[in-house]
Amino acid sequence: MVNKLGRKLLIPLEGQPLDIQGFEQPRELLNRIPEDLTSLLDLVQRPVVSASQFSRAQLLQLARLASRYETQPQHSVRPLTGKILVSAFYEPSTRTRLSFESAWHRLGGDIMSITDPASTGIAKGESLFDIGEMLNHYSDLVVLRDSNENAVYEMLESLRIPIVNGGNGTDEHPTQAMADIYALLKWRPALCDASIDSGQRIRFAIIGVPGVMRTVRSLLILMSQFAPAFEEVVIITDEAEPFAAGQREELESAGLCFRISDDMQKELPQLDVIYINTIAWLGDDYQELGSRYGLSAASPLKAGAAILHPLARGAELARDLDGTEHNWYFAQARGAVFMRMALLSTILKTFA
Ligand code: CP
Repeated sequence: MVNKLGRKLLIPLEGQPLDIQGFEQPRELLNRIPEDLTSLLDLVQRPVVSASQFSRAQLLQLARLASRYETQPQHSVRPLTGKILVSAFYEPSTRTRLSFESAWHRLGGDIMSITDPASTGIAKGESLFDIGEMLNHYSDLVVLRDSNENAVYEMLESLRIPIVNGGNGTDEHPTQAMADIYALLKWRPALCDASIDSGQRIRFAIIGVPGVMRTVRSLLILMSQFAPAFEEVVIITDEAEPFAAGQREELESAGLCFRISDDMQKELPQLDVIYINTIAWLGDDYQELGSRYGLSAASPLKAGAAILHPLARGAELARDLDGTEHNWYFAQARGAVFMRMALLSTILKTFA
């Protein structure tokens, strides 16, 4: 069927299998990670501002819980019934806002959503401190995205309910990094094990700028909890200094081993995982950095290599990769719902 614009009308076939990487792997995580919910108790009623708040044990238990939600959705008992989420997004978002809201809905809770700060007292000069004080009375948890990296800390000063950082300027995006780690664990479940064979160690590349990309910054912090699994982390960039002051040293002291390269084509055949991102929020707007690097089905990718991308994508990630074995970015976005369910139910201690 063709419409008046001459475009084909694509109608999904009923019963067509879901063709997405990582669909079966959650079961393997359930088998590999022994359940020990005690490590999660430290997260109960706590704010989540930085990826550095999470231990390896907590990440594994959250991944296990996410796997449970992903594989057994019919067993959800809607533990957040009667609980209210304020979803405050003062900067555009597709995945973070909607996957948090989807997670909260799937757990049975209700949502008040702010997508435009001008619809709140901020338009009249009200402070985030005062808004935080109000939210204590109206809700049980807040997710905040703001292009100002201090916003989450300003709201924290008056909040007595937990807040989750949904991305603060160029600083951090901890729950995106949790979704990234969940995808990585599904791609290579051996990463869950206490020790890893040398043959299983990963050459991981980041096409991006760790110093100013919040997704990359948080991901590297979480990767440092799994440092022995990474043979090296190659930063592919043409920026002269891609790290923020002290960032590389801190990550290296946590065990990650970095190399910087500007030659993507030369690196690709040796890489097991390629994390690509071009968007960085700088001030009140976003910029595309490193967009001269692009991946497509014609790129010289190693067999079995996984591509991760926090999305939204631009020209750097061609759609002809979507139907290939390298597409782990859709699994990454899909798994974010279950990882956020795991985190939310942990913070509100309804995970047992
Ligand atoms: N990954 C991510 O933060 O996407 P959104 O901007 O759509 O939330």
